[in-house]
Amino acid sequence: MFKGRSICALAVAALATTAQCQQLSYEDSVTALAYGNVATDTSAEGTVWLNVTGFAVDKLPHIQEDLGIHTLDNLKTLNAIAGLAQDAATKGQWGDIVYLYSAFAMNGHSEYLNVSTVEMQESLLDAITNQDSGEIDHQLADLYASTSSSKFLVDAFHGLKSKPSTPSKRWLREVCSNAHLAVKNSCRSLLQNVRGNATWKTGSPRSICKYGCCISWSANATFQVENLTNAANYCINACGTSNVSCEVYGVKLQGTLVDQCLSNRATGCR
Ligand SMILES: *[C@@H]1O[C@H](CO)[C@@H](O)[C@H](O)[C@H]1NC(C)=O
Ligand SMILES: *[C@@H]1O[C@H](CO)[C@@H](O)[C@H](O)[C@H]1NC(C)=O
Ligand SMILES: *[C@@H]1O[C@H](CO)[C@@H](O)[C@H](O)[C@H]1NC(C)=O
Ligand SMILES: *[C@@H]1O[C@H](CO)[C@@H](O)[C@H](O)[C@H]1NC(C)=O
Ligand SMILES: *[C@@H]1O[C@H](CO)[C@@H](O)[C@H](O)[C@H]1NC(C)=O
Ligand SMILES: *[C@@H]1O[C@H](CO)[C@@H](O)[C@H](O)[C@H]1NC(C)=O
Repeated sequence: MFKGRSICALAVAALATTAQCQQLSYEDSVTALAYGNVATDTSAEGTVWLNVTGFAVDKLPHIQEDLGIHTLDNLKTLNAIAGLAQDAATKGQWGDIVYLYSAFAMNGHSEYLNVSTVEMQESLLDAITNQDSGEIDHQLADLYASTSSSKFLVDAFHGLKSKPSTPSKRWLREVCSNAHLAVKNSCRSLLQNVRGNATWKTGSPRSICKYGCCISWSANATFQVENLTNAANYCINACGTSNVSCEVYGVKLQGTLVDQCLSNRATGCR
């Protein structure tokens, strides 16, 4: 997963084995990730959880929901990130957790991991922004900068600037958004696994991701994966040119009404 000399970080982080590897420290692993120093993991699919219940509410006011992802392509990376986040919690490295949770939510997709990418900056900004006022909480930004293991992250938290909110284009059934944009090519690839797929889904996690694109839905439903096709396809056609973020309201998944989202993260569109 990690390029070059950090190649063993995955094993260290996920399995805590150092047998064949020179050990990469926790700090080095976070730094390698934050610099985008990861190779694409073409390994495997599966479900991974990043559970944050019980993590300090006062330190992480915007990160309190357990997050599960069914990934079609990036199982090892997600396991490594989830492992690092558990370490971060025991160390009180709140800034690291904000970054790791963001990376996890975006399917650990290598093109989004570098802290300087538009996608990661947006996610870090969300974590320090008061949802009601839209203002940056500078105390939180300082807290996260002072509890980050990597200089890249410290700089990122210091440099975040609030954006003027951009109005979303609203239709009757769907909203195209400028936030949390996913690369359309990733979404098309994801759709290839969804279309004609009769596998049953129920319960959690309520997301399925491939590369830089995730489909998520707002409520528990029991349905077949292919039932996600129409809304996702609709979004790809209705929104954007090369990127898409879109929510469709009132999608019926074999009897259950949900809002379905297509974006760069498992946590929804906004
Ligand atoms: C991460 O972003 C920085 C700043 O844009 C860039 O200098 C660096 O090369 C990137 N890292 C990788 C591994 O591409
Ligand atoms: C994480 O939380 C989910 C539900 O919130 C639960 O189903 C899952 O078993 C938990 N996983 C771990 C490893 O605690
Ligand atoms: C169908 O969807 C499930 C996800 O629930 C996935 O595990 C499986 O690989 C998909 N099948 C194909 C052919 O993509
Ligand atoms: C999800 O909904 C199904 C019925 O559609 C139900 O059997 C199942 O227990 C629910 N799961 C959760 C985690 O609520
Ligand atoms: C969901 O998919 C199943 C086949 O997998 C199909 O029979 C059913 O009509 C679909 N339901 C909806 C509401 O699209
Ligand atoms: C799509 O997203 C990429 C990465 O954020 C960006 O470089 C590109 O300009 C975007 N394209 C459009 C048309 O918005």
